[in-house]
Amino acid sequence: MNEIAGTRVRMIATMPFDDQRPGTSGLRKKVTVFRQPRYLENFVQSVFDTLALPPGSALVLGGDGRYYNREALQIIIKMAAANGIGRVLIGRDGILSTPAASCVIRQHGASAGIILSASHNPGGPQGDFGVKVNGANGGPAPSVLTEAIYTRSRALSAYRILDAPDVALERLGQSRLGEMIVEVIDPVADYAQLMESLFDFTAIRALFASRFRLCYDAMHAVTGPYAKEILERRLGAPAGSVIHGEPRADFGGEPPDPNLVHAHELVRIMNGPDAPDFGAACDGDGDRNMILGRRFFVTPSDSLAVLAANARLAPGYAAGLKGVARSMPTSQALDRVAQQLGILCYETPTGWKFFGNLLDAGMITLCGEESFGTGSSHLREKDGLWAVLFWLNLLAVRRQPVEIIVREHWWTHGRHFYTRHDYEGLDPVVARCLMKQLRGRLGRLRGERLGTRRVRESDDFEYTDPVDGSVTSGQGLRLFFEEGARVVFRLSGTGTEGATLRIYLEAFEPDPARHHLDPQQALAGLISVVHDVVQLRQRTGRHAPTVIT
Ligand code: G6P
Ligand code: ZN
Repeated sequence: MNEIAGTRVRMIATMPFDDQRPGTSGLRKKVTVFRQPRYLENFVQSVFDTLALPPGSALVLGGDGRYYNREALQIIIKMAAANGIGRVLIGRDGILSTPAASCVIRQHGASAGIILSASHNPGGPQGDFGVKVNGANGGPAPSVLTEAIYTRSRALSAYRILDAPDVALERLGQSRLGEMIVEVIDPVADYAQLMESLFDFTAIRALFASRFRLCYDAMHAVTGPYAKEILERRLGAPAGSVIHGEPRADFGGEPPDPNLVHAHELVRIMNGPDAPDFGAACDGDGDRNMILGRRFFVTPSDSLAVLAANARLAPGYAAGLKGVARSMPTSQALDRVAQQLGILCYETPTGWKFFGNLLDAGMITLCGEESFGTGSSHLREKDGLWAVLFWLNLLAVRRQPVEIIVREHWWTHGRHFYTRHDYEGLDPVVARCLMKQLRGRLGRLRGERLGTRRVRESDDFEYTDPVDGSVTSGQGLRLFFEEGARVVFRLSGTGTEGATLRIYLEAFEPDPARHHLDPQQALAGLISVVHDVVQLRQRTGRHAPTVIT
């Protein structure tokens, strides 16, 4: 046993758990699973063993403030000290939004980061918890690393932890834990400064001075303090523009997921008689965003395309975009903008980590996903408030309503009608079997007529990373129809209960006379095709999706 400056490193014998394989976005499990004796410790030791950081390295720590955040952080701090970390940078009260953690890693030259979050999943004692690992570039660990962590977790026999009292996280400043320096930092400062360097705060201030009104829903999650500081204090949005701005460990009892279902108060306000000009919400850990106009919903895929088309209006992007990327299931609206701009549009598997190499190599500037994620080369995580500020910058310059900006975009580029139907909580065996059988039929479906449409192509999406050549297969079953229509089937990699089948539907409409249609109506033909082709009702017993976005 080593003695470190009066504190003792203990080696605790353990047995492996066999379910510590990180998913789309870190290891995400029920709080009750994480609270099992040795569970968190095992995973964190597997992370340290796999990262094998040189002694004395700096590590960023923080989380979205959900239930178990504080207890978990204390364990991780003590394990970091016992594993030779030289310095930990921790957000005050253990708080760091995911994009702010990415920002701190990059600005302080840290070697890695551990973010405690289960993103938009519910919080509280019966809710979810999660551990995400980020690298020195500030981005999520790539699959090779997460797989290596998993492999290590299967063979672990001991973990290292310092025998020491808890560290105070309420006050800014430095202290020591054994040989490790603990630095409690302002979770907002670095991030807010980065935002000021990208967007025209003077123009946005002028916008707010012109009676423009905003409603920003922090969903009782981590972005409350960030939004109050940036939107209300620095940009002059009237006090009260930020709603649900006090972070709570259970997010007020609702999933902190910025969509039309869960951000219902924002949706009610934006659909009301006295609706503000602009509405937005971010998720539990601050990396997702939803954008609304007055009585108008901007799909994440359209938001990404509009930002790409208007990027030059923001000072940070005035030089233009090097390239763009979207996850495969995201609509192809972005591709059309890229084509017009004469830049490349890359198509990656679902999961922000796949953008990392493209961003690091300088091949893309902007990227996004249909799952309410948008971001750019400024960080290596998607960034909710950044997207909100980007929209505000655009509105400050164009001085048009959100709806007009989007409709003009459709007029110029055509509209990609888009919807995602989720079937949550399915029996995993049923869901896997459905996917397997469809995969087996993909070849035969080619050329077949389904409803009124003919299948032009079909495949199981496989991605070859253009930077490191790594291949990721089995990323979603795709049916391409004539005239650019497409259906994608995928099983979610982020759920913690049963299996979630996601069906992504898209059809291109060049005719402005049809742009006013409701997407569910415009895509009705494709929706019924889907039901027939996989016999959804018969197999799952479900008559309708759990969530439609
Ligand atoms: C997280 C990831 C995203 C991903 C989303 C949906 O937010 O960071 O990159 O798109 O989850 O993933 P899923 O596997 O549930 O469809
Ligand atoms: Zn998130």
